[in-house]
Amino acid sequence: MSIYTITWGAQTRWEIWVSGSKNAALPLIASTLLFETAELTNVPDISDVHLMKDILESLGSKVSFEKNTFTIDNSGLNLTNLRQELFKKARATYYLIPPLLSRFGEVSLTYPGGCSIGKRPIDGIVKGLEKLGYASSQIDELLSFHGQSHTDDTKVNAYFSVGSTIVLILAALGRTGTTTIELAAYEPHVMNVIELLREAGADIALRYDHTIIIKSTTLKKHLTGKVISDYIVSGTLAIIGALTAEEYIDIHDARIGDLTAFLTSIEKMWVRFEKKDDTLRVYRAKNLTAAHIQTNIYPGFPTDLQSPTAILMSQADGVSRIHEILFEGRLNWLVELEKMRGHIALMNPHEAMIFGKTALRGTKVSSWDLRSGAAMLIAGMIASGTTELDNVSHIERGYENFVERLQGIGAKIEKQN
Ligand code: EPU
Repeated sequence: MSIYTITWGAQTRWEIWVSGSKNAALPLIASTLLFETAELTNVPDISDVHLMKDILESLGSKVSFEKNTFTIDNSGLNLTNLRQELFKKARATYYLIPPLLSRFGEVSLTYPGGCSIGKRPIDGIVKGLEKLGYASSQIDELLSFHGQSHTDDTKVNAYFSVGSTIVLILAALGRTGTTTIELAAYEPHVMNVIELLREAGADIALRYDHTIIIKSTTLKKHLTGKVISDYIVSGTLAIIGALTAEEYIDIHDARIGDLTAFLTSIEKMWVRFEKKDDTLRVYRAKNLTAAHIQTNIYPGFPTDLQSPTAILMSQADGVSRIHEILFEGRLNWLVELEKMRGHIALMNPHEAMIFGKTALRGTKVSSWDLRSGAAMLIAGMIASGTTELDNVSHIERGYENFVERLQGIGAKIEKQN
């Protein structure tokens, strides 16, 4: 099991480029199964992408993944050697269900896993697929779907869930009738998936009220396009800049337009930044002040930036409050910050108060999930002494070469295997 050893005193500087978005790349990789061949660029080199590659290879696809370009040839596809057990290693594996159903009329997989940040049911996804005509069953950990979608025009509801919205879009593409998805999630990664599918022939219309209408069409044989850069990585880097820059850092391909709620919040905390094209220059913050954030669906404050922001709050004067409305287990990791002398009050599963400013002290801590792992890494960078962070495989699920990239701007982090 790898460990990161982080030493106090880094003064970050220069510039850094944001890698491709995990949450766009994973559904796009699953979408490639609807095509004979595909080429995706700017795919982040993270362990979740390698997991998808392993599953696709077990299906007989020929996959190459080099220099952030993912190519696939699906001419030899079959279910015979499908590695069902791999599905439980990430939640995003559920994106493979619709293309496999439309190709084979059946699929069985172990219940999708992912970060432990709450209950994370997939009832909405299962109900949506059933409404489209597929049958489902679950025995212990094994989830199975089979049958054909019916041909009627159908309305389904995604309840603003990113996973449900993308699963239902992919399911709709294999149908004859028109599919209307109400209360769809409009996160930037959902838009990236829609844009590339449209370029590959899909007839997808978006309404202002979060309704997506998908009409039956014949898709092209080839899917191609670029994965957007990751606005969550970008926000994480902005916090690193605010807390550790010698003077400032420049974050390129920052997806500034997707970060309005986040930037507005950190500006209120007195983080100073400048925007130029898609480069965000973030200055070392002085005299940070407490704030209140409430996570929300896009374009609200992203739940995935809640944990890194908690570290910023620990360095702000006054009492900050986090209200996490999406996931009921996403604040529990704050006990790790307490081990570093963070002053926290967990009010209930959805609310925490952070008292600042506190001098964090390095010690042995754990990464509980992807985003809180990144948060603990930042805590290590500003804590006195040395921090040993374990369970870092969580971080490597979503942040490409994070240690090397941060070393490149001056961070003092070493990885031990
Ligand atoms: N939900 C249900 N039933 C469902 C699906 C979702 O009750 O069938 C609930 C969830 O439990 C949650 C809420 O709906 O309370 C929102 O969940 P959503 O489906 O939007 O989240 P997700 O698809 O499970 C994706 C990202 C998460 C990110 C959320 C919110 C992927 C692979 N994961 O999760 O990313 O936090 O959207 O934006 O896209 C991360 O990257 O660290 C991460 C956890």
